[in-house]
Amino acid sequence: MQLAVVGSGYVGLVAGACFADLGHDVIVVDNDDKKLAALNRGEVPIHENFLPELLERHRGSKLKFSDDLEAAVRASSVIFVAVGTPPTEHGEADLSYVESVARSISGAIDSYKIVVEKSTVPVYTSDWVRKIILRNVPEHQEFDVASNPEFLREGTAVTDFLYPDRIVIGADTERCAAVLREVYASLADGTYYLRPDAIPRPDQAQIPPPLIVTSAKSAELIKHASNAFLAMKISFINAVASICESVGANVQQVCQGIGTDSRIGPRFLNPGIGYGGSCFPKDLMAFRAVARECGYDFRLLDEVIRINEEQRQRFIRKVRSALWTLRGKKLGVLGPAFKGGTDDIRESPAILLIQSLLQEGCQIAAFDPAAHERAQEVLNSNVRFAESVYDAARDADALLILTEWEEFATLNLPRLRSELKYPIVIDGRNLYDPQIMAENGFTYYSVGRASSSPEPLPPAVEPKTRKGARS
Ligand code: UGA
Repeated sequence: MQLAVVGSGYVGLVAGACFADLGHDVIVVDNDDKKLAALNRGEVPIHENFLPELLERHRGSKLKFSDDLEAAVRASSVIFVAVGTPPTEHGEADLSYVESVARSISGAIDSYKIVVEKSTVPVYTSDWVRKIILRNVPEHQEFDVASNPEFLREGTAVTDFLYPDRIVIGADTERCAAVLREVYASLADGTYYLRPDAIPRPDQAQIPPPLIVTSAKSAELIKHASNAFLAMKISFINAVASICESVGANVQQVCQGIGTDSRIGPRFLNPGIGYGGSCFPKDLMAFRAVARECGYDFRLLDEVIRINEEQRQRFIRKVRSALWTLRGKKLGVLGPAFKGGTDDIRESPAILLIQSLLQEGCQIAAFDPAAHERAQEVLNSNVRFAESVYDAARDADALLILTEWEEFATLNLPRLRSELKYPIVIDGRNLYDPQIMAENGFTYYSVGRASSSPEPLPPAVEPKTRKGARS
């Protein structure tokens, strides 16, 4: 099939490359000429496994890049809209890009087309897109508007797209649903997975994935409700971790105990410094705004957001209780990225923590395997960017682990110890076993577990809350 994907951000670029890998002819449209030129030169703008391979495989043949939206619409039977929906200052999703793309698409409709929302949008967006197109479409031209939410995660975007837990198609007519089933046919019937050149199957992938057909409105809600539920799981376990700390229980054991209930499941129960990224914070606020508009006060979401913010404050208190005063302390910090496996720092809890620690007067040497450049733009010269974990740790009063990069979980502990001025590790992602850290000579603090140390630690003194600071 001939498909157009509007927007070459995370979702658009990955979707375009993956649709090409499924055998479709794809035009990815963007109005950013620099980005298009870079993509045409073979550059890959985001750090994402398998994306370079797919772009290399299909660029110039099944995958083309263009700034001509109208021509792409005329050439395609299905147009996926994957443009940004940033938050407004009130937390709602700003849909002005979606509206302007819908208007441009409408003028170019010259035969039956399906316009598909791929960006995360609030419920009712499909109705609005339909209205906008109706106002501008040439007479007698037929079209449908559908919602096909994307559930990929950054860092594993390509495999998430090709090996999804489910494919959701929100279509309000049978004709539209049939065409969209066709787009995903090789995933839903499993033929893609038989190909020798298929992108390798990740662990736990269920193939073929179920394809769920719903109304457009239900599909829009499925996306927001999924992200809100996942964020709730994280805030829930972070709240449980705080109780574990108070009573001396081990959150890892608690997670194992509750995660083995098949109704709950073990995934997304990792406590830490709170969730971040370009999706959860934005989508929770947008979903809360949608609920408010519908007359429902979704206070559960307020609490999920509050616990998430509180988690960072708790971590700062933990640093303070490990080091006492912070002014002038030298800290090695691992991972400005918002999570492991990505160079994205948007809404990164690690960046927010680094900024708070800088305000407290700490000196910071940071290391991230991929996010240096982006982090540097935000943190400027206030932070020294180290060459390696060990360089960040050199002569530091403590090492802070803020991101769950796999390579941070397999450090050479004797070497780390020899680099640090004091062998103190404050781990916001629970990457290490407290006992092993103590055996290796570290005083080790983590989330929802007792601290450990080669010598027994004196009882923790919660530093007094400073005036004006949140308790
Ligand atoms: C998230 C969803 O997981 C995807 O399904 C969704 O498609 C995507 O948003 C989106 O809406 O586009 P992503 O933002 O890439 O994906 O990252 P996640 O892997 O979900 O992690 C989000 C944050 O939660 C990170 O800061 C991560 O460190 C944190 N997290 C995650 C935890 O603190 N604990 C966990 O157990 C899991």
